[in-house]
Amino acid sequence: MSAPASDAPVLVIGGAGFIGCNLAAHLARAGARVRILDNLSRPGVERNLAWLRGHFDDRIEFDLGDVRQRADVRVATRDVRAVFHFAAQVAVTTSLVAPRDDFEINAAGTLEVLEALRALPAPPPLVFTSTNKVYGCLPDLPLRTEDDRWVPVNAALARTGIDEQRPLEFRTPYGCSKGAADQYVLDYAQSFGLPATVFRMSCIYGPRQLGTEDQGWVAHFLIRAIEDAPITIYGDGRQVRDVLFVDDLVDALARAWERIADVRGQAFNIGGGPHNTLSLRELLGMIERLRGSCPSVRFEPWRTGDQRYYVSDPSAFARATGWKPTTTPRAGVEALYGWLLAERAQPTSSPSTSPGDVRA
Ligand SMILES: NC(=O)c1ccc[n+]([C@@H]2O[C@H](COP(=O)([O-])OP(=O)(O)OC[C@H]3O[C@@H](n4cnc5c(N)ncnc54)[C@H](O)[C@@H]3O)[C@@H](O)[C@H]2O)c1
Repeated sequence: MSAPASDAPVLVIGGAGFIGCNLAAHLARAGARVRILDNLSRPGVERNLAWLRGHFDDRIEFDLGDVRQRADVRVATRDVRAVFHFAAQVAVTTSLVAPRDDFEINAAGTLEVLEALRALPAPPPLVFTSTNKVYGCLPDLPLRTEDDRWVPVNAALARTGIDEQRPLEFRTPYGCSKGAADQYVLDYAQSFGLPATVFRMSCIYGPRQLGTEDQGWVAHFLIRAIEDAPITIYGDGRQVRDVLFVDDLVDALARAWERIADVRGQAFNIGGGPHNTLSLRELLGMIERLRGSCPSVRFEPWRTGDQRYYVSDPSAFARATGWKPTTTPRAGVEALYGWLLAERAQPTSSPSTSPGDVRA
């Protein structure tokens, strides 16, 4: 069994997206060769790819391809020393409109990745990004309101957050497709010995995030405020998440690869944890302080699958790897705001990424 060479590329599936391009930049900066497999289906991600190529051209290889296409996945995985799998249909809302597409990309696409790795003589480490949605809407969690946020009645839970012992309860097609993929990755680690691990992530935010109403709310609120456009809040705005700045996530991803022997076959709740939480209303307050005026807001009923409270307990991963988030929500929101302003100040470039650019 021959392992890939130490200068073999690292594969980032979905590497043009928000998290993928931040990880790709980190790896390239450290001198690694990075191969990106992405079908560029998320509007705007071609800008992330152009940025990566502009900064690290000789270290970035791009495969325009689809995770649902066996041949694309087989070619991309053939000679790599690690795989990070981010490609996904990422919005709960879209999954409710097109559940079959959601399933094919998130569940069947992940199975393609697993099967491609299983076929290799020495499968490389795999890090898969799942979601807190695998724990459902948490209807049994008694909550109360305190100022601008929901808080758990159970003080111990408020201190620690939700850990991996929480029973799985897939809700919404997105929760089902990501949850199925999450379970397949864990099973392939058990049944076939793949060195694979799962991150069940809460809200990630930071530069290069193309937030919309459907996904990426921190960036979305900031973008709307910068554009002086109204923000729609579904529910009462007191919903709370632990937020994790993308640099801290990239550090966790790198550690998972480095320590794969310690984390293989396990799923970890990954987020900012109880010290880094934010409600929607609190973010509006931060935006008001940054801009000097409150964004205009309108309220709509709750959406299907909305969690009023989700805060991760990331301590299992911290114990396994020594990882610790370092960016406070305030510092992270300011950094994202600064990046969004700077990006808007740039002259618009329209880099073309046509099939002719493939494997440049
Ligand atoms: N951002 C978050 O807060 C968050 C939270 C929990 C889980 N996640 C998970 O993390 C991963 C990355 O999220 P992100 O925020 O970077 O999303 P993103 O939408 O920015 O990136 C996903 C990338 O995958 C690509 N893609 C989509 N379908 C594809 C397909 N069929 N074949 C190849 N490429 C395809 C898109 O073009 C995009 O570049 C996703 O799996 C998501 O479910 C993200």
